[in-house]
Amino acid sequence: MSPFLLTRTLPEDATESALREDVLHGLTRSPKTLPPKWFYDARGSALFEEITTLREYYPTRAEREILVARSARIAEITGARTLIELGSGSSEKTRHLIDALPALHTYVPVDVSETALTGAANALVAQRPALDVHALIADFTRGLALPGTPGPRLVAFLGGTIGNLHPAERAAFLSSVRDLLEPGDALLLGTDLVKDESVLVSAYDDASGVTAAFNKNVLSVINRELAGDFDPAAFEHVAVWDREHEWMEMRLRSTTAQTVKIHALDLAVDFAAGEELRTEISAKFREGGVRDELAACGLELTHWWTDERGRFALSLSTVV
Ligand code: SAH
Ligand code: TRP
Repeated sequence: MSPFLLTRTLPEDATESALREDVLHGLTRSPKTLPPKWFYDARGSALFEEITTLREYYPTRAEREILVARSARIAEITGARTLIELGSGSSEKTRHLIDALPALHTYVPVDVSETALTGAANALVAQRPALDVHALIADFTRGLALPGTPGPRLVAFLGGTIGNLHPAERAAFLSSVRDLLEPGDALLLGTDLVKDESVLVSAYDDASGVTAAFNKNVLSVINRELAGDFDPAAFEHVAVWDREHEWMEMRLRSTTAQTVKIHALDLAVDFAAGEELRTEISAKFREGGVRDELAACGLELTHWWTDERGRFALSLSTVV
């Protein structure tokens, strides 16, 4: 028997049917787009973990610094008995929080990546045998059905993953989180901050090419799941700073004119030489903007902590 509970709220075939819709919709419009959650198959999750160790990718280290410095205070303020983490991945940084919460009874990691989730849950139950771990395979943008667990609850959304949602998606997402919370519960949100363009571009276009491999992995996912014939070598990774929207945008640029077939969809997709497929945004924030977006969804920002160098922020909010 598994030492932790694993619940799937995505039906076994949902991945494939949702992927079909997203690929069909995204590759037949102009400009072409693909939604980011498809990056994270087993290889994508492993590549993301590698990104977190890169010299250029500062967000993980900056957020860990804040967690190390502030977890005891977060424990004191929230008194959390249940920690729910959305997009938990490896749950690696979350250990600092888990260790600092004396009343913690249950940990609920939520992710679309089954391999990341089972890897993290196995490691946790081995190291923290007293903790109840209830892992949930689910899409956090599609309305969450959470297990009944003891309050107060702390919902954590780390890694700056909120920046991967567009503004309207963020509002819908934050409202759905607000609906999960009762008075006395809290949201711990990690947001990457606006900074020098050169620092941002390096973080999303590292010298060793790991981020490029991660970005291109979405093409391999389509090849495997939908019988596509993308040649990842015929695309190059592009990371640009959009000054107006204050987000990094990741794209895949077709190096030649080419036609890609996606057999499971009976689809032929033409790419012009130099045409760019948009794969991901990573929005960067300022304190006032975070406060306003939370307030618009019925959440009140009560604490704001940054790392020493002011690169990344963790904020704590409660229901109004
Ligand atoms: N929290 C970790 C991982 C961040 S990477 C950290 O800070 O290092 C983003 C994580 O969110 C990945 O594990 C990915 O699988 C997950 N994810 C992305 N979109 C998702 C969605 N729509 N629903 C659930 N999980 C998602
Ligand atoms: N949540 C991460 C971020 O926005 C995801 C990420 C890191 C990412 N590097 C990437 C997504 C490169 C696409 C391409 O920082």
